[in-house]
Amino acid sequence: MSFSFWAVATLVFGVVAVVVNALKQVLFKDPNRPPVVFHWIPVFGSAASYGMDPYKFFEDNRKKFGDVFTFVMLGRHITVALGPRGNDFVLNAKHSDVSAEEAYAHLTTPVFGKGVIYDCPNARLMEQKKFAKSALTTGAFRSYVPLIVNEVRQYWLKSPQFFGGDSNRASNKTHLMTAMPEMTIFTASRTLQGREVRAKFDESFADLYHDLDRGFTPIHFVFPNIPIPATFNRDKAQRKISDTYMEVIRERRRTGDLSEQDVLNTFLRDAVYKDGVRMSDREIANMMIGILMGGQHTSAATSTWALMHLGADKALRDALYQEQVEVCGPELRELTYDDLQNMPLLNNTIRETLRMHPPLHSLMRFVRHDLTIEGTRYVVPRGHYVLAAPGVPMIDSQYFKEPLKFQPERWLEQKNIIDLAAQDQDYTVVSKGAKSPYLPFGAGRHRCIGEQFAYVQLGTILAMFVREFEWSLPNGRAVPTPDYSSMVTLPAEPSDIVWTRRRVGEKKY
Ligand code: HEM
Ligand SMILES: *[C@@H]1O[C@H](CO)[C@@H](O)[C@H](O)[C@H]1NC(C)=O
Ligand SMILES: *[C@@H]1O[C@H](CO)[C@@H](O)[C@H](O)[C@H]1NC(C)=O
Repeated sequence: MSFSFWAVATLVFGVVAVVVNALKQVLFKDPNRPPVVFHWIPVFGSAASYGMDPYKFFEDNRKKFGDVFTFVMLGRHITVALGPRGNDFVLNAKHSDVSAEEAYAHLTTPVFGKGVIYDCPNARLMEQKKFAKSALTTGAFRSYVPLIVNEVRQYWLKSPQFFGGDSNRASNKTHLMTAMPEMTIFTASRTLQGREVRAKFDESFADLYHDLDRGFTPIHFVFPNIPIPATFNRDKAQRKISDTYMEVIRERRRTGDLSEQDVLNTFLRDAVYKDGVRMSDREIANMMIGILMGGQHTSAATSTWALMHLGADKALRDALYQEQVEVCGPELRELTYDDLQNMPLLNNTIRETLRMHPPLHSLMRFVRHDLTIEGTRYVVPRGHYVLAAPGVPMIDSQYFKEPLKFQPERWLEQKNIIDLAAQDQDYTVVSKGAKSPYLPFGAGRHRCIGEQFAYVQLGTILAMFVREFEWSLPNGRAVPTPDYSSMVTLPAEPSDIVWTRRRVGEKKY
């Protein structure tokens, strides 16, 4: 009796809420607010259609509303601003008006730890980025390339999917979404954090970082402390990893050996803020987690997409091999940083991969003060969020001809790129500012510091593949469609390639 009463009451309440919500949207349109994407379920809003395929969601609504519109997702009001102007509006907004920390900290702080990135005032983040950037010099990159080459070789030798100790294995199938994250974290930790940190990945670090990963998901973006095992394991792993970095730091301070050109040493030497405060060892430890995580999923996704596109394009693979031979000779001497600088096709393969598959589809800011959108009568109120989607103009035929074709050559000759600079002073295709259709690394104060490193890491790894292997997608399969269910845009499974060695037995791996 009382159960059915409550059941009926809940149902009636639900129906009323849905109807009121629908009527409100249809009847009350505030001309000073961006148009709102229609949604049936209050609070939940457009979470499903946005979450499943954000680019389709953006495109569908752009057709209805133009470049600016608002959607509701799990209680948040998010205003999307598309196109180069939208990029500029969101990414170059003043820090007094919008903040990244209030949009991201609930997700990132449990993963990185306290006192760094979004768990500190923005002025501190700006200085932390400067410290990190100061480590990433040409000199450091020169020393990194041989380290990456060596890591890639060691990986092939140890990985069961590659040579696994049998250097004469002539072919096999490899699951890229297993292999590339591993190669990424080994190469990044070895170069950015040094030998001892890299060695930890042969022990417990790999599993602990796995646990961190599993606590860095869209679910945790919405419910940061949802009581599931993934959340508890995340917190345990964060503490253990941070403590391990602390041990490494103490050991380096004890021996006084700061000779390696890694980012950790730069922090140990130079991380003193302008007001004289020195970063604590705990903060430096947490910063190391932030830096590794910042580059991990982004770079692993990018190398996977690149290898998939190359697997589907023999002519491009051949051209890249030819480039290796031209720069390094028919014997393919060991790759150096300076060689990479002479390989424009390799570089443009990375650039084109990031155009079609920027790892991050949504860059968000919390709105701290009512924000007028220039050139419109719209005001985004305090408490809402704004969202830039740099990936949208990157596949818009207004800026890139045949945008869904993977064509690294378009960058070589700047062909199939529509140069708006010629039409409009405000636009440049690859500009330092934010009003650009090509921004895979973001723009403005939160712009990525890892771009150069990513090119060195990805360039070296891809060059190693080109030199050693021929490969293709199994059964003549096409490049997979994107999967948006994790924090970065990944190729949908299966992410396998089938490889054969170019010259079995010639090189002693
Ligand atoms: C292909 C590789 C990468 C891509 C596509 C990428 C992309 C991005 C993007 C789009 C942003 C801006 C986020 C926003 O505005 O909300 C960003 C910020 C950042 N990235 Fe990267 N990233 C990559 C690699 C790396 C690497 C290797 C590192 C570390 C060495 C790194 C460290 C950072 C840091 C510290 C920020 C600044 C966050 C802020 O200021 O709020 N990234 N990255
Ligand atoms: C391919 O790799 C698997 C491990 O993933 C291994 O068991 C198998 O022997 C390899 N096949 C060849 C032909 O080397
Ligand atoms: C490759 O791209 C990076 C990043 O955009 C750039 O700094 C570098 O100069 C480029 N190198 C070549 C050879 O084009």
